[in-house]
Amino acid sequence: MTESLTVRDNRTGKDYELEITDGTIRAADLKQIAVDGQPGLATYDPGFVNTSSCRSAITYIDGEAGILEYRGYPIEQLAESSTYLEVAYLLLNGELPTTDQLAEWTHEVTYHTFVHENLKQFIQGFRYDAHPMAMLMAGVSALSTFYPEAVQIDDAENRQLQITRMIAKMPTLGAFAFRHQQGKPYIYPDNGLSYTANFLAMLFKMSEPEYKADPRLVQALEVLFILHADHEQNASANAVRAVGSTEVDPYSAVAAGIAALYGPLHGGANEAVLRMLRRIGSTDNIPGFIEGVKAGKERLMGFGHRVYKNYDPRAKIIKKACDDVFEVTGVNPLLKIARELEKIALEDEYFVSRKLYPNVDFYSGLIYEALQFPPEMFTVLFAIPRTSGWLAQWSELITDPEQKIARPKQIYTGHRTREFVPIGQR
Ligand code: ACO
Repeated sequence: MTESLTVRDNRTGKDYELEITDGTIRAADLKQIAVDGQPGLATYDPGFVNTSSCRSAITYIDGEAGILEYRGYPIEQLAESSTYLEVAYLLLNGELPTTDQLAEWTHEVTYHTFVHENLKQFIQGFRYDAHPMAMLMAGVSALSTFYPEAVQIDDAENRQLQITRMIAKMPTLGAFAFRHQQGKPYIYPDNGLSYTANFLAMLFKMSEPEYKADPRLVQALEVLFILHADHEQNASANAVRAVGSTEVDPYSAVAAGIAALYGPLHGGANEAVLRMLRRIGSTDNIPGFIEGVKAGKERLMGFGHRVYKNYDPRAKIIKKACDDVFEVTGVNPLLKIARELEKIALEDEYFVSRKLYPNVDFYSGLIYEALQFPPEMFTVLFAIPRTSGWLAQWSELITDPEQKIARPKQIYTGHRTREFVPIGQR
């Protein structure tokens, strides 16, 4: 053993040497630490706050330094110079594509954007007020019935086909869900447009023969998609991996990821930021609001992160993208309040000492609102680009010989071996 940990079990006085690999010990190595007749030692870690569930080479985060890298490339460089499809290729394949590889990948994705007509009818079956994220989740789940061969997860070529299909069809399903909620006709994909331009067309096209979104808005959405593409072992990636570990088809595993992202603790904070800014109403009210936060009455939404104890690098990029979007759409009046709020919080000892900085959600809601999205669409706008990350995590899981079905232990706290009592005697 090159690095090791020696632990003494004070119940028995015995010492054990446990190997340290990559800054971790194997939980299974603790099993040997046992008192006669009792099960070996285990760890207890609700919420996985200090447990690594896998080895991964996809996304690197240093929360203290505010660093985010996909396959070793800093997020700032990708957001500045890349496209979403190029980043999706990088996440899925480990390397940036060559010109030919990117052309082929773009072609493949573009020509899988259409969905079966029955899937359209399936979306049409939802009530007029169905939440678009729930429709998206059901739509992705339904895709598994159209591609039953997707269960052959050991076949690499088959896996690649399903990955291409899912990345291609996600904007179509998301746009159909949006149009359904608005009571507008669904718009079919336009294969002459880029991934994000096509998505905007499917969302907003009306009677014009060709919908051309402003290139600055297309670019802003491209950047937002890149920023949201992956974030290592977050709750939804963990859900995809846990469900995927049963060797179910990838559509079902990704539907689980969408379910996790739907939760307000994961994908819904940007909507809460908008509500908060609206409630503050004017920069004059900020000091009073901050005092309330410091007194523990409420949280400053869009601030703080479990991993980032520094400025979330994605928030910095989004803040810049705001300017480009507002140049087209006109400034969202809430931006002034957001900027002032950020300035005051970053100078305040309460936030400084707790390392609370703006996270990705602080500015993203403002952009989405300026782009005419209703708040229910915000999580859909997160799920579409995150699909490439989920599928990269899923592929890594499927090809990792160390992975097993995800099945945690428990500490049982209930009754034992009771005598059944007939209903008349209870
Ligand atoms: N406003 C005010 N105080 C805060 C905030 C906040 N936004 N976030 C944390 N704190 C304080 C806590 O009250 C606590 O103070 P204390 O030590 O005096 O009790 C301290 O900072 C540590 O907070 P924890 O809750 O332990 O931090 P944790 O890592 O568990 O929480 C979380 C992270 C959930 C993101 C939290 O910062 C929060 O609720 N932020 C607001 C919601 C938000 O913006 N969520 C989006 C996250 S990004 C994403 O999911 C894509």
